[in-house]
Amino acid sequence: MNFGVIGYGYWGPNIVRNLASLEGSHLVAIADVNTSARIRAQKAYPGVNVTPNASELISSPGIDAIAVVTPVWTHYDLVKAALENGKHVFVEKPFTSNSAQGEELINLAQQKNLTIMVDHTFLFTGAVKKISQLLNEGTLGNLYYYDSTRVNLGLFQHDINVLWDLAPHDLSIMDYLIKTSPEAIVATGQSHLNGCEDVAYMTLYFPEKVIAHINVNWLSPVKVRTTLIGGEKRMLVWNDLEADEKVKVYDKGVNITNREGLYELLVNYRSGDMWAPQLEQVEALRQELTYFVDCISNGQKPLNDGCAGLRVVKMLEAATESLSEKGSLVYL
Ligand SMILES: NC(=O)c1ccc[n+]([C@@H]2O[C@H](COP(=O)([O-])OP(=O)(O)OC[C@H]3O[C@@H](n4cnc5c(N)ncnc54)[C@H](O)[C@@H]3O)[C@@H](O)[C@H]2O)c1
Repeated sequence: MNFGVIGYGYWGPNIVRNLASLEGSHLVAIADVNTSARIRAQKAYPGVNVTPNASELISSPGIDAIAVVTPVWTHYDLVKAALENGKHVFVEKPFTSNSAQGEELINLAQQKNLTIMVDHTFLFTGAVKKISQLLNEGTLGNLYYYDSTRVNLGLFQHDINVLWDLAPHDLSIMDYLIKTSPEAIVATGQSHLNGCEDVAYMTLYFPEKVIAHINVNWLSPVKVRTTLIGGEKRMLVWNDLEADEKVKVYDKGVNITNREGLYELLVNYRSGDMWAPQLEQVEALRQELTYFVDCISNGQKPLNDGCAGLRVVKMLEAATESLSEKGSLVYL
């Protein structure tokens, strides 16, 4: 499969590195409007055509698939043009700036029988795969909550706020793990520097009393990537910054019983073992791009297709509405 990559800024080099070395993929061209990005790309990949012009890649008959690794406000136009020119598309998160754009692109891909994959990288990490397995096998029991802290200092984006930048990771993970969409969302936040919210909090109400909370922040003195997932039977802590033992499962919980004949509640705390399951050690992005090539070759619908991207955009839209009303409850 011959690939063209649009965007060689911060994240683009990771996509390019993988596509250049992946079995079944051949990196043909890189486009970036920025001169220094093009110089970097050409130095790293002397045999690859590097151009300022994305349309050169999009219209090239020698390219089968395009990776769009540019800021979100450019995704719709670039993906649309790529699909119209018969190319499969791998596009960065968040899929689009609004749900109308996402729906249009999904329909276009369907009409043209082309694949859209949205880069929801975390779904391909050993940690999320293991957590999914623990949930599916019933190890945690019925899910109670998902609580994530994803904070660091910068990188500031100019076109989007911290929710659109960092929350897509958690929203795509929840979409994958919880398997249902939230019923309502509340978001609050504040902008201190450039007009875009740099600190934000989002609460999501799912069916069956599952609740999720996401704390995202560009103004944190330290980097934190910690998620607590609580179930009826067990709870886990996922610290993505740990080199080993990223996921720790705690055999802890609370049992509440009514003593017969009495209205008194009996609360028992259960505190058993903790263990750290073995996680698959592979580069998530590499697995994801391999899966993209496989899906196209086998005509398979990716789990992180345009519809998955759209579900995340819809949650972000609801959060944006709530944020503008200082935390009103917005139903989806
Ligand atoms: N999956 C992940 O973990 C992950 C991590 C970081 C960023 N991202 C996503 O990747 C995308 C890019 O983010 P970034 O941090 O690399 O941004 P960036 O600003 O560092 O890089 C974007 C690059 O795209 C180029 N560009 C913009 N419009 C263009 C156009 N029309 N034609 C050609 N080149 C163009 C810019 O010159 C720039 O070099 C965003 O959607 C972001 O959310 C994903």
